[in-house]
Amino acid sequence: MTNIRIENKLGAVHAGKASRLYPLITAKTRRIDGNAAAAKTDMLWPVEWWGLERCELFARLGKNERHEALTACNRGILNEAYFIEKSGLAYCAKMMLLADSTDSAQLFAHIAADEATHLAWIEPYIAEQDKTSPQGQFLSFLSGLIEEHRPELLIYLVQVILEGWGLDHYKRLMKNCQDPALTRVLRRILKDEALHHHSGTLLHDASKFSARDRGTVADAMKFYAELVRVGPQAAIAALDQVAGGLSRRELIEVITAMDHPAESARKLDLLRKLMLQPGMEGIVGALEESGYLVPYSAADAVSFYLQWR
Ligand SMILES: [Fe+2]
Ligand SMILES: [Fe+2]
Repeated sequence: MTNIRIENKLGAVHAGKASRLYPLITAKTRRIDGNAAAAKTDMLWPVEWWGLERCELFARLGKNERHEALTACNRGILNEAYFIEKSGLAYCAKMMLLADSTDSAQLFAHIAADEATHLAWIEPYIAEQDKTSPQGQFLSFLSGLIEEHRPELLIYLVQVILEGWGLDHYKRLMKNCQDPALTRVLRRILKDEALHHHSGTLLHDASKFSARDRGTVADAMKFYAELVRVGPQAAIAALDQVAGGLSRRELIEVITAMDHPAESARKLDLLRKLMLQPGMEGIVGALEESGYLVPYSAADAVSFYLQWR
């Protein structure tokens, strides 16, 4: 392998409008009119999207606390999307440098331009202090994958599975977003991500995996599955924090209102379908047999949360 080292700089400064480069970047990104500054984060995805209208505990909170909780949940979604798009830049840089054909290098250059555009569209919705503060285990795990693994593995783990996952995620966000400009952004992102995922399925070739690679891939797939099995941990953490510390029973009430484990079961099924690419049947079958594709009960998901609180 060529001796290159990629660092996914999640904490890199991102000045946006304050940068001298901003006019050049916006000239290159397909414009979407809207006023991100006027969009209220708590209004972007409604209480119903989170299932919180079913939650008595949420109804008992004061007006300000409800507003604060919804803002924190929605902010979590935006921040995750922001850092995934940011990671897309490092991913494409690596894939371009290590491409084995000019066609592949061209493809990754185009995908890089898409990810830079998505980042420019999402950036105005992100609070200044959040742009250098990635939260949660998933983003550091993704960085590790991008930095450490061969392109063959990344095509499967990032481009096939994660981009495919992003299609469902962005579609749900788009359908329920209350801000017209952000809805347009999400619709355009979705179109691009479909091409990214599709190109991943074309490039995926399991015959290039060594026995060791298959072990690495299986471990990463277990990590993905675990993230889904435990349900919406970031959202229950946001509510827990705003409410000033919830009891175990209350946390179970919240995660159940958020439709765990039913929604997590749907997502695990989607994950299984994405993982099930040619040559991957054995690993997916083994994951299924060891129970990795079944969500934890609400009680177990809360126990998982309390372990780290
Ligand atoms: Fe993207
Ligand atoms: Fe993408």
